[in-house]
Amino acid sequence: MTDLHTIGLDIHARKGPEIHPPMRSTAEPCTLVIVGITGDLAHRKLIPALYNLERSHLLPDGVRVVGMGRHDVPLESLMYGLKESTAEHSRTQPIDADVWHKFAQRFDYIANPGEGSGAFKTLAKLMEEHKEETEGNRMFYFATPPSAFGTLLKRINAAGLIHHPREEHWTRVILEKPIGHDHDSAVELNELTADFLDEKQTYRIDHYLGKETVQNILIFRYANAIFEPLWNRNHIDHVQIEACETIGTEGRGVFYDQTGVVRDIVQNHLLQVLAMVTMEPPSSFHSESIRDEKVKVFQSLRQIYPQDVGKDIMHGQYRGYRDNEGVADDSRTPTAVAMRFWIDNWRWQGVPFYLRAGKRLEQKVTQVSIHFKSIPLCLFGDDEACAQIEPNVLTLRIQPDEGISLAFNSKVPGDAINVGSVEMDMSYEHAFQKPIHDAYERLVLDCMRGDATLFARRDGVEQTWKFIDPLIKTWESAKDPVPQYEQGSTGPKEFHDLIEKDGRRWHHTTTDSST
Ligand code: BG6
Repeated sequence: MTDLHTIGLDIHARKGPEIHPPMRSTAEPCTLVIVGITGDLAHRKLIPALYNLERSHLLPDGVRVVGMGRHDVPLESLMYGLKESTAEHSRTQPIDADVWHKFAQRFDYIANPGEGSGAFKTLAKLMEEHKEETEGNRMFYFATPPSAFGTLLKRINAAGLIHHPREEHWTRVILEKPIGHDHDSAVELNELTADFLDEKQTYRIDHYLGKETVQNILIFRYANAIFEPLWNRNHIDHVQIEACETIGTEGRGVFYDQTGVVRDIVQNHLLQVLAMVTMEPPSSFHSESIRDEKVKVFQSLRQIYPQDVGKDIMHGQYRGYRDNEGVADDSRTPTAVAMRFWIDNWRWQGVPFYLRAGKRLEQKVTQVSIHFKSIPLCLFGDDEACAQIEPNVLTLRIQPDEGISLAFNSKVPGDAINVGSVEMDMSYEHAFQKPIHDAYERLVLDCMRGDATLFARRDGVEQTWKFIDPLIKTWESAKDPVPQYEQGSTGPKEFHDLIEKDGRRWHHTTTDSST
């Protein structure tokens, strides 16, 4: 193995005429109703995101926010709690008191959206009062478990709060994941949603799609002429997608134990990333063209059979997971997974995709690495030099340390022919010297603009479940113990065996401390 040097390339955003993106509609005024405002998601993600939009002057003046939650608390206490959590979780620090003051003026709170409470009538009244500033537009964010979606839609509909899609004013609903817990329940939930909403009004959020680095995958592929010709089975040996987290269940033991790593992060976030990396060029940058191409990738995923599980797909559970509150003492829920799978289409036939994800692993890193084929012939005559040649690797670093790097070989200065692998590296932070916005900021704003490009479409969600279902069913019907791994390790030994038996290794490697 040769040492990896990083070339000190100084990549900055090139100055020159400003390049104008295609015209994007602006965010429109509306009443934004956050159902579940007292919950974790609202406190950690949504409110800090909205606050930062306010701070960047991106939130239109005519946006009112109505929080709905189970606790009967006065608005002042709710705002106090929201401010505290924004101070803790906001990407900009410290909180600006004037901005917060302006932001807080937008809020109302309605407690107990339960049956017969009249909460939605109160909501309708509030919306009517603010109709002039909000232009009568309504945006709902269901930050609740999916089991509540149906009831909520029924109540909103009964209160007459859903505009017909052809009306001048709009109603849009953001649904938080998970959309179902398997294929059938996803179809059921989608059908139920379709009873009340047109697909154009339905925004299934996947916050990975709002990450700058994930959006950049398409820009990288389609704003550069030099990569796309190589982006196929003729030049690519294999692709790795890694999403390692250091955190555990973070107080979400009950949810996580029913969910597990595959439903939590693979079926949605990582398959969405996979689609961005592997899709065909869309006919335009219009949301439906992009989403059409992504669905084609999902349709081409090679089916998983029970016999593949344990051979191409390995799972693990970190030691101590069962001690979490809400987790069963004999839980078999996997907290980490490693898998090898294929996309059966012309572009990717025969190229293995390796995916690794999990909690309580050694380091937080989410990245996609494209491993190119080896050179066809070594010309250097010297076995040692030839052995030093590493295949090129392009790494798209999604987080942290957002950037892109390309590993290639170079002559090591000196008399002899010595080859060393070096890296050309682009870091977002250095290249653009601009803060990276949180995914929720972008996605909430997109919904206010009516742009669904970065939201999951119904057919895509159902198709990804079709791929995942056999895997989950096989695990759930098995009785054998789930391999354990140490917290802070690189996962169970089986994860390494899976890729090493093919003569490859995980791209993100630090110290190997598997069980
Ligand atoms: C969420 C999962 O959807 O994504 C969490 O429910 C996970 O378990 C999180 O930790 C990861 O998101 P990010 O943005 O921190 O990579």
